[in-house]
Amino acid sequence: MNFYVMTLFPDMIMDGLKTSITGRAIDKGILKVEAVNIRDYTNEKHGHVDDYPYGGGAGMVMQAQPICDCYDAVVKKIGDEGKKPRVIYLTPQGKVFNQSMAKEYAKEENIIFLCGHYEGVDERALELLDTENVSIGDYVLTGGELPAMIMIDCISRLVPGVLGKDESADIESFHDNLLEYPQYTRPVEYKGLEVPPILLSGHHANVEKWRREKSIERTLRVRPDLLENAVLSEKEKKYLRSLEEAAGTSDNL
Ligand code: ADE
Repeated sequence: MNFYVMTLFPDMIMDGLKTSITGRAIDKGILKVEAVNIRDYTNEKHGHVDDYPYGGGAGMVMQAQPICDCYDAVVKKIGDEGKKPRVIYLTPQGKVFNQSMAKEYAKEENIIFLCGHYEGVDERALELLDTENVSIGDYVLTGGELPAMIMIDCISRLVPGVLGKDESADIESFHDNLLEYPQYTRPVEYKGLEVPPILLSGHHANVEKWRREKSIERTLRVRPDLLENAVLSEKEKKYLRSLEEAAGTSDNL
């Protein structure tokens, strides 16, 4: 899978993604990440890529010309005639990113990201590139680079071959719309805290049941909004109802 990132800070993207799992996948050729400097495409003789907003107001706005020319160069590089690559513009005004969007994006061969800075991007660039506007959460960052890296990290781990066989993407938070269960490793006792005995029992089915229950408990406590779309068996639904009833009468959940 190929990610092209249009940015004013290409080093930030490349430095951030060259380590750990994404770095290994890049080295293996499973992923390609290319940061393209928007500034290289400006027609302005001093290298400016931004200007004052029409209508007044604070801050600067990134101009359409360097962005559109940068995009044309990236599309040419991809060379996939006929098929328009998806272009994601990172902005707090976008749709909030989640795991199911990541699954959809992981099916693409090429994705282009546009990272904004300053007060934003001339709206005409977004129109001309037909961007999908995506936010990574309800808070404001200084630019789109970290959001682009977060999306690339999240999408990449769903691409076959990126995770090793011990790094499954199947059983984890948001699988079945539940948060992940608590995990433990050696030693059995640490500072007086013990590993739940069921995990030492070797009884696979009981362990599985315990983990699902812990996932349901945790989701109810921390992210009850997820439960609406959770995939639960009839027994698990009953378990959830019993937790909800208990929560109605006590705060001990
Ligand atoms: N740029 C600035 N803040 C952002 C956010 N929360 N998500 C995506 N892009 C952004």
